[in-house]
Amino acid sequence: MNRAAPDNARGTANSLPVPVNVLIVGSGGREHALAWKIARSTRAGKIFCAPGNAGTSALGENVAIPADDIPALLAFAKSRDIGLTVVGPDDSLAAGIADAFEADGLKIFGPNASAARLESSKAFAKDFMRRHGIPTADYQEFTDSAAAREWCRAAKYPLVIKADGLALGKGVVIAESPEAAADAIRQCMDDRIFGDAGKKIVVEEFLHGEECSIHALVDGTSYLLLPDCRDHKRAFDGDLGPNTGGMGTICPSGSISAPLAALVKSDILDRFLAGIRADGLAFRGMLFPGVMLTADGPKVLEFNCRWGDPETQSLVRRLDSDLLDLLEACADARLASLSPLWSDGASACVILASGGYPGTYEKGKPISGLDRVSDPCVVFHAGTKSDPGGGAILTNGGRVLGVTATGSDLHEARARAYAAADMITFDGLQRRNDIGAAK
Ligand code: AMP
Ligand code: GLY
Repeated sequence: MNRAAPDNARGTANSLPVPVNVLIVGSGGREHALAWKIARSTRAGKIFCAPGNAGTSALGENVAIPADDIPALLAFAKSRDIGLTVVGPDDSLAAGIADAFEADGLKIFGPNASAARLESSKAFAKDFMRRHGIPTADYQEFTDSAAAREWCRAAKYPLVIKADGLALGKGVVIAESPEAAADAIRQCMDDRIFGDAGKKIVVEEFLHGEECSIHALVDGTSYLLLPDCRDHKRAFDGDLGPNTGGMGTICPSGSISAPLAALVKSDILDRFLAGIRADGLAFRGMLFPGVMLTADGPKVLEFNCRWGDPETQSLVRRLDSDLLDLLEACADARLASLSPLWSDGASACVILASGGYPGTYEKGKPISGLDRVSDPCVVFHAGTKSDPGGGAILTNGGRVLGVTATGSDLHEARARAYAAADMITFDGLQRRNDIGAAK
């Protein structure tokens, strides 16, 4: 008897999966990790990265379009029959890349500009959290620097001063005294060291506790919680030195018990979902709240509307399911039908950075030892490029490589990641030796 195949019969015995061409926007370790995992999908067609790095060029084709050139990215996606565009960086989302693609009927993973304001404006995010009962630090917002300084005179210290807008991760100052707060306010609001991102500030209560990176795919009507991670934000061992984009991650973090995970769901993610629905925010993409585990329960430090970097590098190593399926389901608001599988055990990512990062550093140093790393270790490239004159891979940024490994537990994963990291060298290499070490 002949039976009509269901509409969405993909990859059944009689029909081969239709390959999906994927465009990944960005050039960091996060984007290489996403490309690597998507390339393992049986449905992946051609993979393009704009602009990509030396690692992504080995998985697909790098396209010389900057991540913020939305018209050029859109034209490229249309010309190459791109079935899914996956956006890495926050500023492309804040600039409305998802709006532009959706207006043209193209599928894209990442929230539109209105929803991405939850990351691109801290005042907007704090107001959202306050109105929807999501636990976070008490705060005030200011648009007048004299009023901000006046308020800070009588405040309790330490106090946290945040530029409202996107400031490349540098817009947060922990002030220990009214003088330090006044300095931070002057630099941000009067001197405008972050440009217009500092026109407005949020001043908030300092929270004590351990930090944890939570990731949840959100499709507007449901969410899927991913395993928790710990980032190591300071440049040097022992959590010393300046804040960076992240010097390494472990997954799981080791700090989220089952009761705490239940609280993260009930107090943060359930309320987030109810909040976006009440406010009419069409959020489809990754929600990555930075969370402080305080004595009063988990509190949100900030919302990111994108995958973390280097959290993604650790997460993809533990994902056993098809990432392309997950990202498409999120973009199509079909998340509720999926239950992705994660490997038991742990993963770790150790960042190899250029000497001087997060301050000034040199580029163009040849990297050696990459070919010595093999399974179960994978090196994700961040600031790298191929030497135009030969086969060498050169450093091309602050964070250069993310060396990842999986293991049956954290101890094994970090031992393997460091053994692989020891094989790689370049002039000026800087790394932390305590990623995932017991405190
Ligand atoms: P944010 O970009 O808001 O996550 O802030 C960057 C970093 O500053 C966070 O990862 C924390 O380490 C720290 N931080 C931000 N807000 C607070 C707070 N209210 N209390 C303590 N530390 C904070
Ligand atoms: N690793 C922290 C972030 O991506 O914001």
